[in-house]
Amino acid sequence: MQIHIISVAPELLDSPFAHSILKRAKEKGLLQIQMHNLRKWAINKHGQVDDYQYGGGAGMVMMCEPLVNAIEELQQEKKFDEIIFMTPDGEVFNQPTANKLSLKENILIICGHYKGIDERIRQHYITMEISIGDFVLSGGELAAAIVVDAIGRLIPGVLNDETSALTDSFQDNLLAPPVYTRPANFKGWQVPEVLLQGNTKLIDEWRTEQALIRTKERRPDLLK
Ligand code: ADE
Repeated sequence: MQIHIISVAPELLDSPFAHSILKRAKEKGLLQIQMHNLRKWAINKHGQVDDYQYGGGAGMVMMCEPLVNAIEELQQEKKFDEIIFMTPDGEVFNQPTANKLSLKENILIICGHYKGIDERIRQHYITMEISIGDFVLSGGELAAAIVVDAIGRLIPGVLNDETSALTDSFQDNLLAPPVYTRPANFKGWQVPEVLLQGNTKLIDEWRTEQALIRTKERRPDLLK
C-alpha cells in the first residue's frame, strides 16, 4: 500500500512512522509512506498557502491553488483510491473504516491547519472526510498518524501473527478480554486458573465471556 500525505508541517510525522510495527511494514515493503510539504506548491516565494476567509472572522483558510496543484501533480503519478481530508467535522474513525482502508492500494491524506481548507477542495477532490473524535487538534497531522497506524497494522503480512489483529478490541464489536503474563502469582494477585490449564476450549469460552462482560460494563453501545 502507498500512503501519500500532504501537510504544511510534515516534520510532525517523522517519528510516528519510524518505529515498531509501521517501521517493520515499511522495511518489508508492504507499506510506503510519502510526505509532501504543501509549501512546495505555495503561491509565492514567501511560501504562502493560506489566506483570510471571505466574510471575515478569525483564522486563515488553506487556499485552493496550492492544494489543487499538489493533488493534481500527485495524481499524474498515481490514481488514488481515496483522497482523505482529516477534519473534526468528518466521519468519526473506527475499526470498520480502518479495515476497509487497509484493503486499498493508494491513499492520499490531506492534513488541514488553521481554520481548514477552502470548501471547494472538499467538494471537488476529497472522497472521504475523517475525524478521530469530538475534539479539535491544531492540525490534521496527529490525526493522520493515528489513521495510518490503525490501517498499517492491518495490511496482510504486517503483523507477525496474522490472527492477532482479529482478536483486537472492536474487531467483532467487542472489547478485548483481559490478558496476563508471567508470573502466575504476583504479590498474591493470581492469574485466572482457567488460563493456566491449557484447555483451549475453556480458554476461548472464558475469553468470550470476559469480552462480553467488559463490553457490557464499559461500552454497552457496542452491543446494540
Ligand atoms: N484536525 C483537527 N482536529 C481533528 C480531528 N478531531 N480529527 C481529524 N482531524 C482533525
